[in-house]
Amino acid sequence: MKLIKLSAIDSTNHYLKQLSKVSELEDGTTVVAYDQTRGKGQQGASWFSEPGKSLTFSVFKRFSDFDLEKQAMVNWVVSLALKKSLISQGIENISVKWPNDIMAGSGKLAGILIENQTRKRKILSTVIGIGMNVNNHEFPELVNAISLRMHTGKEFDLNQLLSSIRDTLLSELDQLDAMSSSTLKAQYENELFRRDQVSVFENAEGQKWNGIIRGVTDDGKLQVETESEEILMFGLKEIRLLN
Ligand code: BTN
Repeated sequence: MKLIKLSAIDSTNHYLKQLSKVSELEDGTTVVAYDQTRGKGQQGASWFSEPGKSLTFSVFKRFSDFDLEKQAMVNWVVSLALKKSLISQGIENISVKWPNDIMAGSGKLAGILIENQTRKRKILSTVIGIGMNVNNHEFPELVNAISLRMHTGKEFDLNQLLSSIRDTLLSELDQLDAMSSSTLKAQYENELFRRDQVSVFENAEGQKWNGIIRGVTDDGKLQVETESEEILMFGLKEIRLLN
């Protein structure tokens, strides 16, 4: 499978999306950058990475007949594949903060940016971008970030880590068509960060309130139980988990 290694690029997601428009990409084509200079995060945020210390890569996946309304499944399978791959390396205490931050303890270890190419309510292909903090010693400007090195005390080989994550990711994605949405959803819910614990949330208006994460809906919204024991559902821009 094709692996494109770049010494520097603005964003591996952007690069791979552009490449997919001008060439017939082999399924699984992966682009990895030593230095990503303008990494993109979710909801227009930027993604910080340290050259040679972090993993920044994107994987191209083609679908033959996948309904757009099932897109949450792609998010779930990618998050679970990342966790699976980390566990296979002996890394413990990994969870998934909704929708798809990978946590080590209570710090953010990795972020995922999935960008779908769609037509007529089908996902034709997707670019899965993963940024993982690996051998970083500290994050002076990021309060909540953690690296694998900080989490385990060990250094990791970036190439070996990349091939483990990519192999697991592609093998799980290959099984996606055969997976039931409810089984996958239950697996994802099992891994949710701060599930069944009282947490502080902030809504789009800046109000803070206590709630308990109970799970997700079929289309990927977060289900939170309020103090009055009502279950509310939230989309991406509607809620933020504060602790
Ligand atoms: C997030 O948590 O906000 C998602 C971060 C995703 C970052 C990765 S790094 C590789 C790929 N290229 C990008 O520009 N972004 C993703």
